[in-house]
Order: sequence, then structure tokens, then C-alpha cells
Amino acid sequence: MLIPGLTGDRSLAQRAMQSPVLAQVYERAWRPALFWAAMGFDLDHYRQEKQAAIAALRLADDATVLDLACGPGAFTRVLAEAVPRGRAIGVDLSEPMLGHALRDNADTGASYVLGSGHRLPFADATLDGVLCYGALYLIPDPFRVVDEIVRVVRPGGRVALMASASSRLPGLGWAQGAVAGPTGLRVFDRADFTSRLSAAGFTEVEREVHGVLQYVTGTAP
Ligand SMILES: C[S@@+](CC[C@H](N)C(=O)[O-])C[C@H]1O[C@@H](n2cnc3c(N)ncnc32)[C@H](O)[C@@H]1O
Repeated sequence: MLIPGLTGDRSLAQRAMQSPVLAQVYERAWRPALFWAAMGFDLDHYRQEKQAAIAALRLADDATVLDLACGPGAFTRVLAEAVPRGRAIGVDLSEPMLGHALRDNADTGASYVLGSGHRLPFADATLDGVLCYGALYLIPDPFRVVDEIVRVVRPGGRVALMASASSRLPGLGWAQGAVAGPTGLRVFDRADFTSRLSAAGFTEVEREVHGVLQYVTGTAP
């Protein structure tokens, strides 16, 4: 299928997300196991990740919020619950993932769109918040996607990103590189997103690192 804005090759990790089997096990097994490990087995952080995301986005109850690369929609559901008079929209490239989102996480009023972060189907400066968790490291040209996120968020709106972070432990840094190469996963420097958002004029740009994941938030100019 032709997806607007999507050009070039997909990474191996990105293609894996098209698998119906992975989409089936993602929420119950894949995400809990892999992300908890990536967070350095920080159970408290894992348990409060969704509520922390909502708090970071500072959503009014009538906000319009995008969950970019929503997968099977578990975060989109929570966002929809946080904006009862607004709208939560999940966008993803994977039909199997969106199939699960529609089956399991659409009853709260969340809506879902097949598309790519490379060209978001929203006008400039129209969204109150954008969440993009667990996807930028799969995407071969992730900063184009960050630029799209910057484009669609309104002045004063909030962005919350979660992606990989290079480890400062020498052994772990080497292991990250060894996994990243063959899978197409990318390990970001800790300043990659903060500097990009700051350069775009964002304020309140903050980063938290948990294990080998970084959480970056900011307020649009
Ligand atoms: C690991 S899942 C993350 C799902 C969810 N955000 C979470 O935190 O659990 C990564 C998702 O990114 C999606 N994805 C990869 N490249 C994308 C792109 N260019 N545009 C939109 N979604 C993309 C995949 O299809 C997959 O569903």
C-alpha cells in the first residue's frame, strides 16, 4: 500500500512491526518484557509510564492529541480517557497493529489512521499534544518525523517523545551497537531530541533517562 510521505526502505525492526503475530503478542508480552528490561527493570517507572505521559502532555479535557506510532493503541486509549470532550488519534504504519487498536482500544472514542509520521494528515499548528513512544529508533530517517511533529503542534502545545538513549556503561554501549546494526534499530545520543526541539524554539525542554530509554518533553513556540 502507498502511504503518503513514506519513501525508501523500511528497517528490519520496522518491517517486524507489520507481523500479525507480533501485533498479537505486543501488548501482553513483547512490550512488558522488552520495555521493562530497557528501562533497567525499573518496575515503578514501567507501572506509571502512561500516567506520566498524560501529565507531561498537560492535556485539557477538550484537547486534540496525536499518538504517533500508536501500535495496538494502549496509550491512545489512555489519552482518549484524558480528553473526554476532545479527541485522541492514533497513527501507525502497521495494519495488523491498527487492527488490534480498533478491536481493543477504540471503545473510549479513540480513532485510528493508517499513515506515516513522515507526512502527518494534520494542518500546521493544530494539535494540543503529540506523543511518540517507542518508534523513532525503528525509523530510518527519524528526524524528518520529529520535524513533522514540530510542524503539527500548536504554540503552547506539548510534545512527549520516548526513544533509545546511548548507555554510558562501556559494555552496554557496545552491546547496544551490536544489536542496533543488524536490526536497523538506532541508538540516539542523549542530546539528539533536546537539541532538535530547542533549535525549533521549544521551551521547557526536558529529558529523563531510564535504563537505555530517554523521555523528552517540550512546549511548542
Ligand atoms: C514498538 S511499537 C510502539 C507502539 C506504542 N507507541 C508503544 O509505545 O507501545 C512501534 C510502532 O511504530 C510504528 N511505526 C514504525 N514506523 C512508523 C512510521 N514511519 N510512521 C508511523 N508509525 C510507524 C510501527 O508500525 C509500530 O506499531
